[in-house]
Amino acid sequence: MSRIAYVNGQYELMGAASVHIEDRGYQFADGVYEVCEIRGAKIIDFTKHMTRLQRSLRELRIAMPMALAALQIVMQEVVRRNRVRSGIVYLQVSRGVSRRDHAFPTHPVAPSVVVTARGISPQKGSDTAARGIKVITHAENRWPRVDIKSVSLLPNVLAKQAAREQGASEAWYVDAQGFVTEGASSNAWIITKDDRVVTRSADSGILAGITRAVLIDVLAAMQLKLEERPFTPAEAAAAKEAFVTASSQIVMPVVAIDNQPIGDGRPGAIARRLREEFHRFAEAV
Ligand code: PDD
Repeated sequence: MSRIAYVNGQYELMGAASVHIEDRGYQFADGVYEVCEIRGAKIIDFTKHMTRLQRSLRELRIAMPMALAALQIVMQEVVRRNRVRSGIVYLQVSRGVSRRDHAFPTHPVAPSVVVTARGISPQKGSDTAARGIKVITHAENRWPRVDIKSVSLLPNVLAKQAAREQGASEAWYVDAQGFVTEGASSNAWIITKDDRVVTRSADSGILAGITRAVLIDVLAAMQLKLEERPFTPAEAAAAKEAFVTASSQIVMPVVAIDNQPIGDGRPGAIARRLREEFHRFAEAV
């Protein structure tokens, strides 16, 4: 089946869809994005993702391209036209098209909007979760505004490629103080030997993940202790369990860090339970 994308007001065949070569998203990575999970053909945690989108746009002084209700219709329509039941929907908003000049355009420019969706087999996710993933550590080399979900992802691309070349699927950034910040495309978590669930506070150094926020509700309901504080790779290697969270992965157990096994080197029982419970606490529209 041909894939359909929404581009600036039109639904088009993916192969024919295009943006202007002077789009500032293309020339300067001057734009933001969101990725939402699709499950049962519905968008998961749409409201929270849109709240974060609006914050990212505000921080970069890019206008919201259309009303929230309209954006919801467009995203649902892209999901529908692509007949995705399980997978992800991707939304990108850039500052728009203007003659190349680093500073903002001086004349009013409409933001560019692109929405795509693709199916991901739920079985594939479950199989990966049953095996667990490996992570490597990587020196933090991103700009300090990682709280903005910007499409400027070159350091993340390079870190992810380094992970792949070392037989791992995620890279955990380590800051100058020796603490893990987050993954190249996920938030990082460990569970200590006495069952405390640890993740860095969203106040600095990380993207405030939506999966992270919902998981905090799951932890409370399961009466698990949460500690929002930084941890080191050594603490992760000595932990009972570790996992990452992201809209595209939900809760994904981590079984090794820099080739050192975590726990018994297999996905942990708590991470597996959190993965199972997650959607009871998520919104679907
Ligand atoms: N990545 N941290 C980073 C750097 C991320 O890129 C992501 C998400 C997260 C988790 O955020 P959330 O739970 O809201 O998905 C944390 C998306 C999925 C991506 O870039 O594909």
